[in-house]
Amino acid sequence: MILEALEQWVARPLKRAAQTAWQRQRLRRAMRRLLALPMGVAPERPLLAELRAAWGNDRCAADLDFLSEVARLAAVTLGPVLECGSGLTTLLLGALAGRRGVEVWALEHEPEWRRRVAAALRDHKAGQVYLWFSPLSDYGEFVWYAAPLPLMPDAFRLVVCDGPPAGTRGGRVGLLSLIGDRLPAGAVILLDDAAGDTEQHTLRRWMRDAPLVVALRQLPHGTLAELTRC
Ligand SMILES: C[S@@+](CC[C@H](N)C(=O)[O-])C[C@H]1O[C@@H](n2cnc3c(N)ncnc32)[C@H](O)[C@@H]1O
Repeated sequence: MILEALEQWVARPLKRAAQTAWQRQRLRRAMRRLLALPMGVAPERPLLAELRAAWGNDRCAADLDFLSEVARLAAVTLGPVLECGSGLTTLLLGALAGRRGVEVWALEHEPEWRRRVAAALRDHKAGQVYLWFSPLSDYGEFVWYAAPLPLMPDAFRLVVCDGPPAGTRGGRVGLLSLIGDRLPAGAVILLDDAAGDTEQHTLRRWMRDAPLVVALRQLPHGTLAELTRC
């Protein structure tokens, strides 16, 4: 009985605190390596895998293939970047685009999650990101972020579409309705989990509404869609 109580009230919280500290240290080391890369150079997969493991959000963080693609484009993009759904991808965008002086805007609807991501950006000096609290809002046909449109750039060159989360009415369809006129020719949208029913519906709608070239890549953990505005 006493041993059980000790385990519950002392050992377990201590173990959890030690794990958290170790994880934080691991992320610090991985972020240092990321920030040490020359400008314009994307991290290799082993470093991305280390960042992902250290970030420790297995359930929701983007998988390695998506992270690789985000990193590859973020390292070289010349214009503003928009991200929908923040997390590890936001750290990457800050480090690889924000640090080069490219404007990065990230929309996040969960206040607690936004706080965690903002703290990580600050702690690791990841580069300038406008991480905007944008509650999900009802636009009639779909639900999407209440984005601060008047403050945002007139044109985005890269969009990382990893939100709103599954189950949101209309899925991610709202992106093009609200931001479509800010995507010039050549702008790229990266859409994660593109094989799901909702995402397939989104892709069909987007292709109907805008001139887009769609490249689908079958990956071990899902399908990645890369859409280029014509
Ligand atoms: C697919 S996730 C975005 C993942 C992000 N792009 C990344 O690579 O880490 C979509 C949304 O899920 C929510 N989310 C992700 N992880 C969460 C967590 N551990 N706790 C609460 N909300 C979470 C956030 O609101 C986030 O914007």
